[in-house]
Amino acid sequence: MVAFKSLPGAFGIEITDIDLATASDAELKEMLVYFHRHQLIVVRRQDLSFERYDEITKKFGNQHPHFLDHLRMRGHPAILMLSNIYEDGRQLGVYEGACFWHTDVAYQDPPNSATLVYSIQKPAGGCPTAFADCFSAYDPLPEKTKRLIDDLTCMHHYGNRDYGDESAGELATYQAEKLTDEQTRNVTKVYHPLVKRHPITGRKALYSVAGTAHGIVGWPKDEAYGLLRELTRHCLKEDFVTSYDYEEGDFAAWDTFSTLHRATPMPKVEPDDPKARILWRVSVNGVSPLFSKEEIYLGKERLDADESEGPRKTA
Ligand SMILES: [Fe+2]
Repeated sequence: MVAFKSLPGAFGIEITDIDLATASDAELKEMLVYFHRHQLIVVRRQDLSFERYDEITKKFGNQHPHFLDHLRMRGHPAILMLSNIYEDGRQLGVYEGACFWHTDVAYQDPPNSATLVYSIQKPAGGCPTAFADCFSAYDPLPEKTKRLIDDLTCMHHYGNRDYGDESAGELATYQAEKLTDEQTRNVTKVYHPLVKRHPITGRKALYSVAGTAHGIVGWPKDEAYGLLRELTRHCLKEDFVTSYDYEEGDFAAWDTFSTLHRATPMPKVEPDDPKARILWRVSVNGVSPLFSKEEIYLGKERLDADESEGPRKTA
């Protein structure tokens, strides 16, 4: 039986008592229940072959090769390289393109349901990812605000929105990864609810209000940007935010329906530099094949009930 302990910060847990190299589907399903309850999980110091990592990511949903096809791992399109390494001027992976608050692949339909990473190389000094809990940000909103936003639809496309004015500050500092000409031609607009009900837990979250949300259907641009900026600031309050710094071998997963995140900027380096960083990232959509059809809409009450008899909390 797997166990967990809370991570420091507003949310997220470390799954313990599991070896991902040998874990059974039953153990992985326990881990997934905890994933859906806590939105951010890490499993430290795992020793995974490429094939086993690939297999585990498929337990979270349907692998979806990333839009940035020039930064996928050669021969393994499901893996997007995240790295600050430049070799002979060639970029190994996504460099600064994740350093603004965003939700992975909210600019496509279907959007990502989860992101998985495996830490291959940790840079000297570390390189944490910051996360915001958008379930907990939605819950305390005034009823008047909930009535205003509950049925709104946002327009998304690739790239960080400009936020419209200087008060955006650090929200507008970094831009998404530069696209190739062909990728630019393939950018499309998609539409997602501003308040999204999670397909597993049924909880409502502020969905992807930062980054790729570039408008609200039926709203003038300035008013839409004002509301989205206000909701983004709300999600980034200290009560809802945490961060995690990966050690080599750490596996992490985050729920993309209910979180925002951003990476830490790093210097560009050569492959042998101590500040070099490599993460293997996989995007998935849909739901885990480990859940039966009847379990897909578990609901929060069911998850909470399971906690009394399910995996134990160790600290
Ligand atoms: Fe990301």
